[in-house]
Amino acid sequence: MSKKKLGFGIIGTGAIAGLHAAAINACDDAELVAVCSSTQERATEAAKKFGVPADHELDKFFQRKEIDIVAICTHSGNHLEPAIAAAKAGKHILLEKPIEVSVARADELIQACKSAGVKLGVIFQNRLKPGYLQLKEAVNQGLLGKLLMGTAAINWYRDPSYYSSSSWKGTLVGDGGAALINQGVHTIDLLLDIMGEARAVYGQVRTMVHDIEGEDVGAALINFKSGALGTITGGTALYPGNPERLEIYGEKGNVILEAGKIVTWNVSGSTGDLPTSEVGGSGASDPMAIDYRLHLGQVQDMVDAVRDNREPMVTGEDARQSLALILGIYQSSREGKQIVLK
Ligand SMILES: NC(=O)c1ccc[n+]([C@@H]2O[C@H](COP(=O)([O-])OP(=O)(O)OC[C@H]3O[C@@H](n4cnc5c(N)ncnc54)[C@H](O)[C@@H]3O)[C@@H](O)[C@H]2O)c1
Repeated sequence: MSKKKLGFGIIGTGAIAGLHAAAINACDDAELVAVCSSTQERATEAAKKFGVPADHELDKFFQRKEIDIVAICTHSGNHLEPAIAAAKAGKHILLEKPIEVSVARADELIQACKSAGVKLGVIFQNRLKPGYLQLKEAVNQGLLGKLLMGTAAINWYRDPSYYSSSSWKGTLVGDGGAALINQGVHTIDLLLDIMGEARAVYGQVRTMVHDIEGEDVGAALINFKSGALGTITGGTALYPGNPERLEIYGEKGNVILEAGKIVTWNVSGSTGDLPTSEVGGSGASDPMAIDYRLHLGQVQDMVDAVRDNREPMVTGEDARQSLALILGIYQSSREGKQIVLK
């Protein structure tokens, strides 16, 4: 007998919501059952666009018994409130990156899910790109030996209209900053997933081109708990924007990914069966150059986590790490000294 599909509701019907809807609709084990917008007018539009009932009040939305899992697609500084309401209503949560915009808010969110006994998964879809999976496997098998250094470069560009057309992007309250916390966080998450936890960071950020509160250029030096070193550079002012790079150096070799694709595979004793399929794209200059199939992988993982009563592939604690590191870079820049992370 086939298993019952799990019902998904989406909160926040802006840009990324369309990708969630496409992923949910493409998943054999999931079904989009409702959406929630910020106003009645937007809810009416959203009901037409997504072809499901739409609410504009969270209380009413959460009364829908057919919702098992809520995809939270509100702006980054407003993930906590819908998440607390979802947890209290007993709904599992699949949350967009970054987890929140402060560590205190992220901790409150994680705790609310734990207290309510609901699952919390966070979207970091680049973890599912074939090239990244191959790198991770090589590291897990010890093919690179002891890891010595990792670098993430997210030297991107956004047109000024990207910020001027949004009420929250680039603001401290809505976005928590700009280039590193919004765009860079994806590759910083991968860097941490491979290199392990960061112990301390020294960084500097600047706002050099855009008229925003957050940074549009940043650079940092990381000390990992393992003793390895790392660097991060990022930006949204770096015209025309280059594909993001992740470089991992071990004592036996190194691997370099560009937009998730392996471009260098220096692993002794292994030629590397380089994946030919490219899934995902790069947001180097276009924020919506994202493939819904990676989100589909995380939707499927969330369904399986609920059914099998296990943790989702990216937990709240995992997502807290990239947030804490980025906020550490901001603090270091303000205070002019290395920050030891908690
Ligand atoms: N995974 C990715 O690659 C990716 C890409 C883009 C955005 N994102 C993340 O997705 C989130 C949303 O980004 P976006 O670009 O879609 O923003 P957006 O501004 O286009 O959409 C956010 C929507 O949330 C709505 N909203 C806010 N509070 C609400 C509430 N309480 N109830 C109902 N609706 C509410 C707003 O009205 C808006 O329509 C951000 O956290 C962002 O970082 C992730």
